[in-house]
Amino acid sequence: MKSLFVLFINIYLYSWKVLSSSSCKPEQYNDIFNFGNSLSDTGNFLLTGAFAYTPVGKLPYGLTFFRHPTGRFSDGRLMIDFIDYCLPDKAKAFGLPFLPPYLAQQGGSQIFDHGVNFAVAGATALDAEFFYRLNIGSSSWTNHSLVVQLECRKHFKKSLFLVGEIGGNDYNYRFFAGASIQQVEPSIPLVVEAITRATSALIEEGAVELVVPGNLPIGCITVYLTFFQSPNKTDYDSNGCLKAFNAFSELHNSRLKRALETLRQKYPHAKIIYADYYGAAMQFFHSPLEYGFHKETLFRACCGGGGPYNFNLSAGCGFSGSTACEDPSAYANWDGIHLTEAAHRIIAKGLVYGPFTTPPLTSSSFKNIYVLN
Ligand SMILES: *[C@@H]1O[C@H](CO)[C@@H](O)[C@H](O)[C@H]1NC(C)=O
Ligand SMILES: *[C@@H]1O[C@H](CO)[C@@H](O)[C@H](O)[C@H]1NC(C)=O
Ligand SMILES: *[C@@H]1O[C@H](CO)[C@@H](O)[C@H](O)[C@H]1NC(C)=O
Repeated sequence: MKSLFVLFINIYLYSWKVLSSSSCKPEQYNDIFNFGNSLSDTGNFLLTGAFAYTPVGKLPYGLTFFRHPTGRFSDGRLMIDFIDYCLPDKAKAFGLPFLPPYLAQQGGSQIFDHGVNFAVAGATALDAEFFYRLNIGSSSWTNHSLVVQLECRKHFKKSLFLVGEIGGNDYNYRFFAGASIQQVEPSIPLVVEAITRATSALIEEGAVELVVPGNLPIGCITVYLTFFQSPNKTDYDSNGCLKAFNAFSELHNSRLKRALETLRQKYPHAKIIYADYYGAAMQFFHSPLEYGFHKETLFRACCGGGGPYNFNLSAGCGFSGSTACEDPSAYANWDGIHLTEAAHRIIAKGLVYGPFTTPPLTSSSFKNIYVLN
């Protein structure tokens, strides 16, 4: 049984039209396991009580697709929900590709026969101690760092592993606590090392195909645009994103790509795919109209409580004082921090059709890829 391990933030595809015909051998993979943070959490954080952010357990979260809250940090599906993996038909009968959250296991559900999702909102690549040492440990949402999630992997050899994007929160916690770019930059090598260590560990366990995603362009994300708003026009690029924060993401990504190149040399038998979330997301930040978004609302949160970007810390999405927009599909940003289902779909398409994966994702990794038009 071949194993496929995918490390990635978000691969998501949209609704149900077959893009490529099946090239999977039947039962190529036995199980799917995913690691990550809120970009791929399908309910673990909610099942831990969601104390750091209770609104995720209430509408309008889940409004668009599930029509009820599922613990996903979006109006609808995440990238991971849009892929149909190479699994035996038996697994599909349980409703995959919607991976069940690990913590739902306590119910003894049969769906765990074919995979589970360990991603927890708020998770970091670096362990909690790192943030406690910086005195911002208490601002983190969860102690389920990448290493803590990987502990569980030992039970599941010969499986398909999806390790969701990780590392973004390591920077978010610092920036939101007031650290400057210059102060956070030295942690990039540590974060990259944590990601590559996890990647190596999976390969050592037998992984042969891995997708490792980079960071999103944080300078285009609503919460950054709000917190770091500047009167100086030169701080913004021609799209309206904060140049310095995008440069920070690009620095992380270039370091990550370099580290992956080293890994490829160390493990020549493994196929290590870099997923360029930054480039895939810049498609719509650069040309919103082509992707169904509007210039006036491109950076505004669909769900929020006012302010220039509709992101208000005193009235976050789901709290009183906030409202959701009429049509989330016309917005890229959902709650100020996370993207909408509509944005997830575009990024996923970019990863699958290219050119945003290197080497390209192929149908050896995915049975049928379903993409909306
Ligand atoms: C993480 O662990 C620390 C130390 O054990 C604890 O004080 C803290 O409450 C935990 N945080 C969360 C979100 O569980
Ligand atoms: C705006 O930023 C640029 C580049 O950092 C700087 O050279 C310039 O002095 C700033 N202008 C004002 C009015 O602060
Ligand atoms: C932010 O929310 C608070 C609480 O609802 C409200 O009083 C305030 O006016 C809001 N700020 C903006 C800029 O809308």
